[in-house]
Amino acid sequence: MTSILIEKIPLLVTNDPAQDGSALGIIHDGAIVVEDGVIAWVGSSSVASYDGHDQIISAANRCVIPGFVDSHTHLVFAGDRAQEFSARMSGEKYTAGGIAATVAATRLATNTNLGKSALNLYNEALNSGTTTIEIKSGYGLTVVDEKRSLEIARALTPESTFLGAHVVPVEYRNDVAGYVDLVCGEMLDAAAPFAKWIDVFCDRGAFTPDQTRKILTFGISRGLLPRLHANQLEEGAGIAIGVELDCASVDHVTYASDADLALLANSNTVATLLPGAEFSTRSKYPDARRFLEAGITLAIASDCNPGSSYSTNMSFMIAVAVRDMHFSPEQALWSATRGGGLALRRDDVGLLKPGAKANFLFLKSSTYIHLAYRPGVQLIDEVWRNGIRIQ
Ligand code: NIG
Ligand code: FE
Repeated sequence: MTSILIEKIPLLVTNDPAQDGSALGIIHDGAIVVEDGVIAWVGSSSVASYDGHDQIISAANRCVIPGFVDSHTHLVFAGDRAQEFSARMSGEKYTAGGIAATVAATRLATNTNLGKSALNLYNEALNSGTTTIEIKSGYGLTVVDEKRSLEIARALTPESTFLGAHVVPVEYRNDVAGYVDLVCGEMLDAAAPFAKWIDVFCDRGAFTPDQTRKILTFGISRGLLPRLHANQLEEGAGIAIGVELDCASVDHVTYASDADLALLANSNTVATLLPGAEFSTRSKYPDARRFLEAGITLAIASDCNPGSSYSTNMSFMIAVAVRDMHFSPEQALWSATRGGGLALRRDDVGLLKPGAKANFLFLKSSTYIHLAYRPGVQLIDEVWRNGIRIQ
């Protein structure tokens, strides 16, 4: 067994309310003991045991927080859409129509290149503090291309998601029902061994509420757990379906009615806000205060994809969430860590308490407020995952 003591942490965020009664579970002058990759003890430096450790590290003046949990990404794709972004910044509207371009490029990519590009983005995320990540398929949209996308995703994370129902691909434009049957049949058969989750883009120009319910229900019958892209482009039935089917999370929710909020508040479904999507599509931001006042659990994720949010950087997402979605710095940090863990129905990530994975970050500052206060600045000093320093 290896044991590491980290001491003299000026501000330690545990996300364990048992520490101080607050959601962030803050300990001043805190300490952590890590044993074999797992948190063994958390408390004050003044009462920590200094005996029997293989290593003792002083945090000096650095704040320690749980590693980010990015519960929504689309890292498996080829090509980029820089021209589409540029046109959008000159006034074009985002419609998700560009997904077809990424699908075409992804189908043409070799397995090696597709895997390399996903790995590069995965490492980019890890180096910026994301220690748990969800990765979706959804740019293949054939049986073979969805299967290989999920094989790549599964090799990188256990949190892999089958998103064959991202959009209807061009070759099925005149046979949408046929595509839904393919997703629920042969494609699901090929995807299920490599996926933990099933997701559908339920929105204008993507899948209807009835199609969404059908696809999720087929996935659930095969042992996949449901989550949903809902109400990014307009109000609709997505949130209600997500709650009805006990989705772990409904994501985007840029358009949510008061009735939607009431449903979410009485459910186990997390609402995941994606600041990068509104930022990069120059859309109206959802107001986090509406959700929080209704008592809804919020996560923040990157939605990293080549169309609507080409960033893996969770510090950036926190900064935008605070500036433009009206999260407090505390709420944003919690949502990017513990909220993400809950959106993945995980009790071992996004918090630092005995039994949880030893996933944590040393910041270059003595307070997490800098994550929002100093936008665009690289503030992650060290990344630890499973008790091992990665960076
Ligand atoms: O989550 N909304 C649907 N899917 C992605 C965008 C995909 C794309 O534009 O390539 C999203 O924002
Ligand atoms: Fe997405």
